[in-house]
Amino acid sequence: MEKCTYKRVMLKISGEALSGTNGFGFDFDTISRIAKEVKEIVDMDIEVGLVVGGGNIWRGRSSEGMDRTTADHMGMLATCINALALQDALEGIGVKTRVQTAIEMKEIAEPFIRRRAVRHLEKGRVVIFGAGSGNPYFSTDTAAALRAAEIEADVILLAKNVDGVYDKDPNKFSDAKKYDTLTYMEVIEQGLQVMDTTATTLCMDNNIPILVFGIEADGNIKRAMLGENIGTIVSKK
Ligand code: GTP
Repeated sequence: MEKCTYKRVMLKISGEALSGTNGFGFDFDTISRIAKEVKEIVDMDIEVGLVVGGGNIWRGRSSEGMDRTTADHMGMLATCINALALQDALEGIGVKTRVQTAIEMKEIAEPFIRRRAVRHLEKGRVVIFGAGSGNPYFSTDTAAALRAAEIEADVILLAKNVDGVYDKDPNKFSDAKKYDTLTYMEVIEQGLQVMDTTATTLCMDNNIPILVFGIEADGNIKRAMLGENIGTIVSKK
């Protein structure tokens, strides 16, 4: 078996990633590709927690004119829809999973219970955490940081549509420079768009490294696990 640097990881997938190039809803080819990539690392005996965003369905923070808490509740429900889509894709290829939600919806999924989540991971099940942190005003990045701390993940894998962290938007500026490594403080001070500040400080306080990489290239999740130099690592240094 290939050697891996990490034993337990938290994978954060943006909701947007599930929509492929459509920008909205689901692209099932993309979802099944992501599921296959997750299976590759499960097969390497890596324990995988997974937090998914909801931006392919609803984005709370850009819902102008709406009550923010209501908009965020809608966003949390969107993440649950995505969690079920990922569960279905993973189980379809033989990966055992459990969905746990931060807001109880017992007929659909287990409620989040930390000790139970850890037990599932130890048994080799992928635990998909739905409904973010269960609180409005917090992003799913923050939920990923929080759950990563709770399950004592070795690293957060932040799968993005961009292949790392740049000094400016690489889609707008051809001279944008990609960073290989950054410290949490550099991310915060320079206002780099990696995670929001709440999520970044939570990682900093708990010393959880963040590996930012592109989800679009095939096989990147496994490459990240094998310690290949893809994307950007944010850590204490
Ligand atoms: P182990 O006992 O560690 O093997 O875990 P398990 O998840 O298999 O245990 P359990 O027998 O509690 O769960 C069996 C199935 O029921 C699993 O698919 C769980 O995800 C599901 N399940 C457990 N609790 C709930 C719940 O509160 N709501 C829903 N919808 N499903 C649940």
